[in-house]
Amino acid sequence: MTVPQPPEPIPGARLLFSLDPSVSHLNHGSFGAVPIAVQRAQQRLRDEMEANPLRFFTQGLVDRIAHTRRHLATFLGADPEGTALVGNATTGAAIVLQSLGLGPGDEVVTTDHGYGAVGFSVERECARTGAVSRTLPVPLTAGDEEVVEIVRAGLRPGRTKLLIVDQITSPTARLFPTAAIVGVAREHGVPVLVDAAHAPGMLPTTVASVGADFWVGNLHKWAYAPRGTAALVVAEPWRERIQPLVVSWEQGSGFPTRVEWQATLDYTGWLAAPVGLFTLRSLGLERVRAHNAALAAYGQRVVGDALGVAPADLPEPGGPTVAMRLIPLPPGVATTMDAARDLRARIADRLSVEVSTAAWNGRGYLRLCGQVYNTPDEYDRLAVRLPTLLAQG
Ligand SMILES: Cc1ncc(COP(=O)(O)O)c(C=O)c1O
Repeated sequence: MTVPQPPEPIPGARLLFSLDPSVSHLNHGSFGAVPIAVQRAQQRLRDEMEANPLRFFTQGLVDRIAHTRRHLATFLGADPEGTALVGNATTGAAIVLQSLGLGPGDEVVTTDHGYGAVGFSVERECARTGAVSRTLPVPLTAGDEEVVEIVRAGLRPGRTKLLIVDQITSPTARLFPTAAIVGVAREHGVPVLVDAAHAPGMLPTTVASVGADFWVGNLHKWAYAPRGTAALVVAEPWRERIQPLVVSWEQGSGFPTRVEWQATLDYTGWLAAPVGLFTLRSLGLERVRAHNAALAAYGQRVVGDALGVAPADLPEPGGPTVAMRLIPLPPGVATTMDAARDLRARIADRLSVEVSTAAWNGRGYLRLCGQVYNTPDEYDRLAVRLPTLLAQG
């Protein structure tokens, strides 16, 4: 079977990271990896903070955060006035859910490709307010038009108070046609939260072009920011309704400062985040995107071949820059969340390879990422050794 050529490596890129060289890190998507230059920038900020905490927190920190927010929002193609920095995508989603004022008779609609913790957040908010949640099943192989039609048929105008849809899905590594979905929801008067946890740095799409009422994306995954750096973007009509989860001294400042300021936290990660963007741009954004997507596609094919999956049965991500790919595992393998977690741990322990595994709709899947620090031989080695590990049960 012919496997596509892997991309040319980006020389020296691995040396930009402090990753353990004895491990193949094929799961950038879960927690990212912070380049050394970004780690250093954050450490310098921490040194400044520890040299005089009073001065650091009370003299200009709010303005420095605002400056950083403008920088990051511009990178994302978002309105800086509508952007608030938050700790992570999960927090951004919770802020939106708790600001909506849901009540009995209202419903929140999601898809079965959604992120588990965001799903739990929906459940809790529904239990607290008397609203209900409904999950739309979307087949793994559904094309863009089918996805849009499923969503259209699943909305109940007047009743559906929020639709949550992922830009790139976590368990299934799918790019959803979010702009078209937002368009359909708007026709029905349904607000949309786009969970774009993986989009910043990976997709060229701007936040403005998605046009959602709410959009949340992590910079600590594909944009090389320190962990705890995410952006919540809110459309103009909603901004005054958005409340932080924790009330602080900045409550009177309005959106976005009241959402960003969460009392005595370590804000150095946010302030160092522009260095992550600088690193990305130095490597060449287009080049990084093309490299990562091509490498993930290569990994999907070699590991898929090794597991006997026909190329036609390897799920397509739906876009040219998606740097995560899914491989169906043999029937009966990793079909529950616990079994998937066990398998991930065994692959890490026995093969020294970090991957993501998920059970989705009763089937087990392996998810592989491509990143500038990865090389084709890492996927080749996994392909050679994984069948034996799976055979051992
Ligand atoms: C689609 C999606 N939403 C939300 C999250 C959660 O991100 P965080 O842990 O930074 O809140 C993830 C993490 O992988 C994700 O893939």
